[in-house]
Amino acid sequence: VNGKIVIPVVVNVLYKTAAENISLTQIQSQIDVLNKDFNALNSDFNQVPAAFSGVKANVGISFELDQVIRKSTTKTSWGTRDAMKKSKQGGLDPTSPSTKLNLWVCTIGGGILGYAQFPGGSLSTDGVVIDSRYFGLSGSAYYPYNLGRTATHEVGHWMNLRHIWGDATCGNDQVADTPLHNAANYGDPVYPHYSTCTGTPIEMTMNYMDYTDDRAMYMFSEGQKSRISAIFVSGGARNSFAQ
Ligand code: ARG
Ligand code: ZN
Ligand code: CA
Repeated sequence: VNGKIVIPVVVNVLYKTAAENISLTQIQSQIDVLNKDFNALNSDFNQVPAAFSGVKANVGISFELDQVIRKSTTKTSWGTRDAMKKSKQGGLDPTSPSTKLNLWVCTIGGGILGYAQFPGGSLSTDGVVIDSRYFGLSGSAYYPYNLGRTATHEVGHWMNLRHIWGDATCGNDQVADTPLHNAANYGDPVYPHYSTCTGTPIEMTMNYMDYTDDRAMYMFSEGQKSRISAIFVSGGARNSFAQ
């Protein structure tokens, strides 16, 4: 990536209850977490085990709050079929999605913390959805997903990262320096957790693209950083953000 990438963030808040109408303080706390996690400034970055110290990465992409758009709704949950992204369905259309990252904060339902659109999809639905209970710090943020890492994980997807286990048993995440994981990890795994895949490597359970609790994830890898960088270069799917 040539030059510093700073991504303007539009936060679309859809609320029925007062708790869902999260405060500006809570919104800014999420932007702050993204800035820390994507710049290796998170206070737990030094917990990365020595075995991974050679590949832990400073992705070097920053985020700035561009605007907050709020809308009152009668819906109690929005599901995962993009209704929250469409004003015709009671949601909010994205604002300038080719140059701004749109986040939708609402109740998703079904135990889903958040979901993201990968690069290359329709602009009309581009962005990331995070349930209000797992967005930012304090306020409505709900343990063990109360450290803003749902957004870090989902923005990782939005920047083309796959789950570290490759969504299959010993699957491929297209990143060479992340070990083979036999499956998703949950909670706060005891280190070292050995994979059952070829070579029985120690799994990188502390990677943001695993499924652990917020306190148990605190790194991206250099290979993931390369994969992210590739989408912002000329010809890359998110090059419009690098101007
Ligand atoms: N994509 C996952 C989901 O939809 C989000 C995982 C976030 N993990 C976390 N520790 N916040 O549930
Ligand atoms: Zn995911
Ligand atoms: Ca890998």
